[in-house]
Amino acid sequence: MRQAKFITFEGGEGVGKSTQAQLLAARLAQRGIDALLTREPGGSPFAEQVRSFILAPGTLKHGPLSEALLFNAARADHLEATIWPALDAGRWVICDRFSDSTLIYQGVAGGVARDGLEALERLVVGERGPDLTVVLDLDPRDGLGRVGRRGRTAPGAVDTDRFEARDLDFHLRLRAGYLALAAAEPARCVVVDAAASTEATAEAVWHAVATRLLAEPG
Ligand code: TYD
Repeated sequence: MRQAKFITFEGGEGVGKSTQAQLLAARLAQRGIDALLTREPGGSPFAEQVRSFILAPGTLKHGPLSEALLFNAARADHLEATIWPALDAGRWVICDRFSDSTLIYQGVAGGVARDGLEALERLVVGERGPDLTVVLDLDPRDGLGRVGRRGRTAPGAVDTDRFEARDLDFHLRLRAGYLALAAAEPARCVVVDAAASTEATAEAVWHAVATRLLAEPG
């Protein structure tokens, strides 16, 4: 049997990660590949509890290091309870955000030292990280416009979370951080232009998955 693959979607706010993750799962299903769709923060009962706490408007102000530790606490449980068991059972896993979000949001944009975050990542994720990371790239002025339009009615969503509320400069740092990360790790990461239509973006995502993980022309 084909070894199950672990794919993550990353990017700034409103780039369409959730939609693209769903479209990829559907396309894999057409090929007879069963994929578990999950997300961070969240993805296991405990991690969803941590998510509610992190994103709740009433949660008291705390710094990016505290955030990084909370996201990693959720991630450790998500891996143990959801991701690794699925991969072990032969299911592919598609995750909407993963440890790169901590490196970029709390590290690049938030100022937490990179070597510390990488040490945490080694501890929490170890060798069983993503096979492929799709970085959806979009000018933050467009991404934030989309967030404003879509409303936040998805289960577990909060009205406007603290990260979306940051200023444009923060979001520009996120974008630059993701592009630099993808350039530094080309074997794992692929940058997909998210300014195109949903369909065209999905086609580009599929091409990356097919050529890198299925050894098909796409
Ligand atoms: P969510 O509503 O899932 O936003 P999005 O649709 O953009 O994924 O909220 C998750 C927020 O948490 C998002 O603003 C990114 C942030 N985040 C971090 O700052 N660090 C992390 O490690 C993760 C996983 C998310």
